[in-house]
Amino acid sequence: MIIEKGNPQILYNEQTLDYYDGIVPRIGASVTFYGAAVVRQFEMMGVESTISSEALLRTRDKLQCLQRLSKSGLNLPKTGFTNYSDDAQLLLKSLGKAPVVIKLLEGTQGLGVILAESNKAATSVIEAFNKVRCRVMVQEFISESSGTDIRAIVVDGEVIASMQRIAPEGEFRSNVHRGASTKKIKIDEKYERAAIRACKVLKLDVAGVDMLISDKGPLILEVNASPGLEGIETCTGINVAGKIMKYLVKKIKAK
Ligand SMILES: Nc1ncnc2c1ncn2[C@@H]1O[C@H](COP(=O)(O)OP(=O)(O)OP(=O)(O)O)[C@@H](O)[C@H]1O
Ligand SMILES: [Mg+2]
Repeated sequence: MIIEKGNPQILYNEQTLDYYDGIVPRIGASVTFYGAAVVRQFEMMGVESTISSEALLRTRDKLQCLQRLSKSGLNLPKTGFTNYSDDAQLLLKSLGKAPVVIKLLEGTQGLGVILAESNKAATSVIEAFNKVRCRVMVQEFISESSGTDIRAIVVDGEVIASMQRIAPEGEFRSNVHRGASTKKIKIDEKYERAAIRACKVLKLDVAGVDMLISDKGPLILEVNASPGLEGIETCTGINVAGKIMKYLVKKIKAK
């Protein structure tokens, strides 16, 4: 990237990339910083994008995401966060009581998501993470979702595909990488509205919204700005990538 007055440029090898109308950023979690900078540079060049650099950065921070959603009227699992506080008991008391789910802030694919069944277990785990200065969120455990969650893909204010993920026997995490199976479903209108609203709040036109099924209705677990497409396309037979491209072309033409 070359940053200079009035002439933002992106070079790839020796070629200047100055002929694009739009981009579909696919930014992996490990390259968020540089990826967001590239998207921002394209924005400076007047190129349309399916996601803004700001929204990308906002959603990469799971805690920030939940904080923003909490104000929007959407339901979420009640979540606690401290600055490595010694008083795990107080944190647990504020959340209700065990079981709780303890999550590494930087975890993905279900790794770093721990179910602590008792206050005693939760306290030891929280204290251990605090000791090694590893940031965790502590969340009420939604037992009625029992190893399943819903992934809805939202494009341009509409749920275009959805699936249910079902954890294998004995596992509470419904990540495909942890052996979960997937099932195409038509989600209830309440879930559809919640997914669309979450994207609106986070200013995302394309996203994967993960929800837990609870007695209170949909609970937003997470919003992913660069959702994987293979799993949902295979499960539902819907051409998700095609719909994203269609949306981008519409955006470019409207300019
Ligand atoms: N509070 C909770 N109550 C019940 N089950 C939960 C809760 N939080 C997470 N789970 C289960 O654990 C799985 C993984 O949790 P989560 O999506 O928060 O982390 P991750 O998958 O590691 O992160 P990422 O989705 O960014 O890769 C969820 O799909 C869900 O099945
Ligand atoms: Mg997840």
